[in-house]
Amino acid sequence: KPWTSLQRYRAYKEYNTDYVTTLTDAVIASLYRNTYHIEPATGLLNDPNGFSYFNGKYHLFYQVFPYGPVHGLKSWALMTSIDLIHWENEGLKILPDTIYDSRGAYSGSAIPLSEDELFIFYTGNTRGADQSRAAYQNGAIYGKNGQITKFEQPLLTTPAGYTNHFRDPMVFKVDDQAYAVIGAQRADETGTVVLAKADKADLTSWHYQGELHFTDEALGYMVECPNIVLIDQKPVLIFCPQGLDKNVCEYDNIFPNMYVIADGLDLETPKLLNPSEFHRLDDGFEVYATQAFNAPDGRVLASSWLGLPDIDVPSQADGVQGILSLVKELTLKDGKLYQYPVSETLSLRQDVHEMLLTQDPETQHTNSYELEVELSSNQTLYLFANADKTSYVSLNVDMGIGKITLDRENLPVSWAEEYGFTRSTYFDTQKETLKLNIFADTSSLEIFVNDGEKVMSSRIFTAPDHTHLFSDGAVKASLWTLKK
Ligand code: FRU
Repeated sequence: KPWTSLQRYRAYKEYNTDYVTTLTDAVIASLYRNTYHIEPATGLLNDPNGFSYFNGKYHLFYQVFPYGPVHGLKSWALMTSIDLIHWENEGLKILPDTIYDSRGAYSGSAIPLSEDELFIFYTGNTRGADQSRAAYQNGAIYGKNGQITKFEQPLLTTPAGYTNHFRDPMVFKVDDQAYAVIGAQRADETGTVVLAKADKADLTSWHYQGELHFTDEALGYMVECPNIVLIDQKPVLIFCPQGLDKNVCEYDNIFPNMYVIADGLDLETPKLLNPSEFHRLDDGFEVYATQAFNAPDGRVLASSWLGLPDIDVPSQADGVQGILSLVKELTLKDGKLYQYPVSETLSLRQDVHEMLLTQDPETQHTNSYELEVELSSNQTLYLFANADKTSYVSLNVDMGIGKITLDRENLPVSWAEEYGFTRSTYFDTQKETLKLNIFADTSSLEIFVNDGEKVMSSRIFTAPDHTHLFSDGAVKASLWTLKK
């Protein structure tokens, strides 16, 4: 049943123990729980937030509504890890408990201020008595002791010329000076990215620098979750335009996650220097709100929401929706952005099974595996299949044109049908062979093409015994079942 607005924004304390127990039991019984991905204990997960390294650990927060699989009253939940693989659930950290975030602690980011303090920049969503929305860009300090201390006043309010769709501050530093990019809608209902600059090293005072110019194209009606990272000194802007004209850059999902690569960053004007055209970050069915940051070991790390706004998924029947992607490392090779699971992901591999995929079923007992194949001719692979191959996800490879098509029409359940059943990606045909590293989990599939030249990330909902693999021709493959 759809939740009314009143239900979505009820105070957390109004949910009693019976309610929570019933919900938790439903989620535990769900056949869609993944084994090596971050997902919420109950309710809805959306954007990754505050991805950072602090106090000897990676910190990865996420947007959560714990009391149902819907976009309700949001908090930030925290996961910590020393290796980006084994995550500790630290619970809810930023709650919607002040007048500046009473309708939800929305997305934002984090950067260490000192050894003891992690600075958090997030959007507080609020509604006035007349239901009008107001957004505040709020600050908080997360201490080594695990406590959040919110700043008393917002760090930024929405400037004239913009609507209250103004959110998702992502803080980054250039030469020790802190800046933030913020997603915004202008008063004329067009989307843009605004840059703010910190006035002081303690990040307690900020001012607007202006809109960050990186294209002459219209950016649709809103931009969400902008991020800037520096890869080999080159700024990469990752963002989620809503309502973008498909002539600017094609996409099939309701909203795309995109990026541009530039030669430099002029933070005063402000603008990206010599920005590339727009590229899709991911060519699968579900990736959004990717958050990336420059980690202290020199790597650029990213986490994505394997989900989309305004899209219902089958696991909602079990009281849960939304998972985070594997943690990916972003690199540039020959001027192109590559994304690949961090090398620590190898530690999930158990014994290798060398196999020959054919038209006969290769039977696995789990969908939690990494499959590696190298192809030199056209091929179709079938994953998440039942034994007689009437239900499956297929992956068709055309080596001639360098095209991969993922098709999820033949599954027992369907969702997001109005956005189609196939997604395609194109790869460089210079090489003789095509390498695919395919990470399957109970209800997810992340496909990395040629070591991360392209990525296709999707949710897959099927029956628990649909764990067979096939191919049209004989294909040598290595398969590792992955640790929980
Ligand atoms: C993106 C988004 C953000 C917002 C958050 C609310 O998915 O809409 O713009 O801050 O989710 O949960």
